[in-house]
Amino acid sequence: MLAALRRPLAHVLRLAAALALAGCAAPDETEPGPAPEPTEVAFPATFSWGAATAGFQIETGLADTDWGVWAATPGKIQNGDLPDAGPDAFAHVAEDVAALLAAGLDGYRFSIERARVYPTRAAFDADAPDPAGLAAYDGLLAALDAGGIRPMVTLHHFVWPRYMSDPALAASPQGWERDDAPAVFGAWCRRMAARYGDRVDLWVTINEPNVEAMIGYVAGYFPPGVSDPDRLADVLRRQVSAHAACYDAIHDDDATDADGDGASALVSVASHNRLYEPADPTSAADLAAVAHSRNFWNLWLLDAVVRGDVDLDFDDVVDVTADPGLVGRADYIGLNYYGTSRINAAALKLPYVGVVPAQFDLPNERPKNDLGWDIYPPGFGVVLDEVARYGLPVYITENGIADALDVNRSRFTAEHLFEVGKAIARGIDVRGYYHWSIIDNFEWASGFCPRFGLFQVDFTDPARPRSPTSAVPMLAELATSGRLTKSAIAALPPYQSKPSPCAGF
Ligand code: FCB
Repeated sequence: MLAALRRPLAHVLRLAAALALAGCAAPDETEPGPAPEPTEVAFPATFSWGAATAGFQIETGLADTDWGVWAATPGKIQNGDLPDAGPDAFAHVAEDVAALLAAGLDGYRFSIERARVYPTRAAFDADAPDPAGLAAYDGLLAALDAGGIRPMVTLHHFVWPRYMSDPALAASPQGWERDDAPAVFGAWCRRMAARYGDRVDLWVTINEPNVEAMIGYVAGYFPPGVSDPDRLADVLRRQVSAHAACYDAIHDDDATDADGDGASALVSVASHNRLYEPADPTSAADLAAVAHSRNFWNLWLLDAVVRGDVDLDFDDVVDVTADPGLVGRADYIGLNYYGTSRINAAALKLPYVGVVPAQFDLPNERPKNDLGWDIYPPGFGVVLDEVARYGLPVYITENGIADALDVNRSRFTAEHLFEVGKAIARGIDVRGYYHWSIIDNFEWASGFCPRFGLFQVDFTDPARPRSPTSAVPMLAELATSGRLTKSAIAALPPYQSKPSPCAGF
C-alpha cells in the first residue's frame, strides 16, 4: 500500500506550503486552555522512573555497522571521536546497574544491536546468533533483574548491520529502502520476542524514525549521508510498515504466553516531538511552516501507527484512513522531548520539509544546552497535550540535557518532570520517564562532546570511572517521594548561560 505513491516530494512540499498559506491546511485540534500553575505535583506509585541508552552509543565492537563505517570516515564525527573509546558498557554492567539504583530508578531502556547478535548476513539468514552477543544481553538482563530494574528494549536505534546499510554504497538503496528490510526487521523482532519475551514486556520497535530518516536522507549528517527528499519520503513510509510487522511479531509471541505472565507486552515507537514556534508570529509564511512542521514531525508517524491514517505525500492531508495494516499498532505513545524549533520560513537552509535540523537554534533569549538547543520545559507540556489525542498511555522514552559542567542538569530535570506532573494532573496517563542518559556516551555526529549522563564518564581514564552529577540525589529523592514542589525547584541553582562547545545537528 505505502509504495503506491511516488510523486516527487519537493513538488508536494511546495504544494503543501501553498495550501497552508491559502488557509487550506488540515484543521488544528483545539489545545486546552492554560491551567493555573500548581505549587506541587505528584506521581503515581506505579510510575516508572528510568534512564535510557542505545547500544552503539555505549558498547564497543560495532565497527561492522553503518555507523561504524561512518564514524571511521574522516570528517563525519566531531573531533574524530570513535565509539570504541566510549563508556564500554558491557565491561561496566554492575557499575551501571548500581548507578541506576543510586539515582532511584527502577527502569532501564536499552537497545539490542543486530550486528552483535548476527554479525554477518549468513548468520542472520541461518538464524545462527553469535553466542557471545546473546550472552552479553543475557548478562545485562540478569543484572537488571537482580537489581529489580524493569527493562525496556529498543529493537532499532538508528544503527544497521553493514550488510543492510553501507554508507560506502550510499547511492543504492540502504537500510529501510531495501526490498528485504521489512522481512529482515520482522524476523529480527520475532526472534528477539521469542528469546526475551519472558523477561521483557516493554518494547520500542524503532527509535525516532523521523530523526533517522531526516538526518540520514536530507540533512546528511547520519549515514547513509545523502540529501534527497524523495528517498526520505520512501524511508518514512517503509518505517511505518516495518514497525507494524515488528509490532505484530512481538504480539504473536506474547499471545502464546509461553512465559505464563499473560499477554502483557506493550509495544510502540519512540517519537521525537518538538514544540514548533514561528520566528515571527505575525508572518503567515512562518505560521504555515510551523503547522506543516508539526504535522510532519510530531503527528505523521503517530497518526499512521495509532489510527492507520497516512498522509502518503506529506501535504498535510490524510490519503489513507484506518489502514488495516497499520491501525492499532501502538500500545502506548513513546515520547522523546528535547526542546523547541523556531521556524523562519524565509531562511530555510533545506527543502521546506527540512526545517527541523536547520533551525534548532535561531537566536533567542532562552538558556541552551551544550549543543545550543533551547531549554524550554513548557514545550514539554504542549507536546504532551498534543499526543493526548491518541488516548493511549504515554511513556517519556527520552528527555535530557547535554551539560558538561553539570550546572543546569538538576534544574532542567526537575522543571521537565514538573511539566510531566502537571500533565498527569490534567488527566494524561503518563506512566514513566526515562532520562537520557544514565552515563555519558557517544552522541552520534557530535562524538563525546555532549555530556548527557546522569553519571559522568572519564574517557581519559582506561578504567572509564563513572561519577554522579548533581542531578542524581535530586532525582533519587523525587523518585522515592513521588512529589515535586515549586519551592524545591526554586531552591535549585539558576540556569547558567555558557557558550555551546559541541557541534549540533
Ligand atoms: C535522541 C536520540 C538519542 C540521543 C539523544 C540526545 O534524538 O534518540 O540516541 O542521541 O537524542
